[in-house]
Amino acid sequence: MPLSCKFQATRYERPIRSYVRRDSARITAAQRRALEDHWHIYGVEITDKLFDFDSLFGRAAPRIVDIGSGMGNATVTMARDHPENDYLAIEVYRPGVGSLLNRLVADQLTNVRVICDDALEVLERSIPNEAIDAILIFFPDPWPKRRHHKRRIIGPTAVSLLEQKLKAHGRVYLATDWEDYANEILGVMDAHPGFINLAGRGFFAPRPRWRPVTKFEQRALRLGHKVWDLVYARSNRTV
Ligand SMILES: C[S@@+](CC[C@H](N)C(=O)[O-])C[C@H]1O[C@@H](n2cnc3c(N)ncnc32)[C@H](O)[C@@H]1O
Repeated sequence: MPLSCKFQATRYERPIRSYVRRDSARITAAQRRALEDHWHIYGVEITDKLFDFDSLFGRAAPRIVDIGSGMGNATVTMARDHPENDYLAIEVYRPGVGSLLNRLVADQLTNVRVICDDALEVLERSIPNEAIDAILIFFPDPWPKRRHHKRRIIGPTAVSLLEQKLKAHGRVYLATDWEDYANEILGVMDAHPGFINLAGRGFFAPRPRWRPVTKFEQRALRLGHKVWDLVYARSNRTV
């Protein structure tokens, strides 16, 4: 029986998480089958060893990490449009991982690997420093209630981790449809000495032309929400 998206992050101490584990999350038969049948092709389990990206993907190519890939629509579109890049999708929601696996198989993509675990845990434990070309965080859970803001994935600790894992001049691309979260991210990222806001301090970026419309974005646009993009480059200071 192949491993099927075993969730391991709960083994480690992280007081406040950016998600709630829903073991009761509804999973369709197709998603469950995908986890059983295709996980061994695309799935990556985290261990105590750092990843060797070249052997993970079987080549050396630009490496892009998609944090919170959701149902995987954007990951699949980007991987199909950019076969020259390798994509590591990290998502805690098993049904989403199942959907992504199905799409990867349908499109016969070879430049994607999938992790079903806490992305911050994965960055900290498994990804070597200065190994990543770009990190994507599209429509992170907004945790709109004030008492839940502490769960938002972007905060000073996460931003330092992003800096550590990116190569010098590597990029972080973010998008959200929550204005107060957009401003919070702008504040945290602009204040970090390891990042340069490519739109200029205090400014949001134009939407990157290559950024696909994600499932959550479609919903946001239907609700009439505006979308804010942010793009940062890691400076070349030593981490
Ligand atoms: C609002 S959805 C956006 C999904 C996708 N990026 C999109 O735009 O359609 C946010 C996703 O992030 C995932 N998530 C939240 N915290 C995470 C974490 N620490 N590690 C991995 N995934 C996480 C959630 O399970 C959820 O699927």
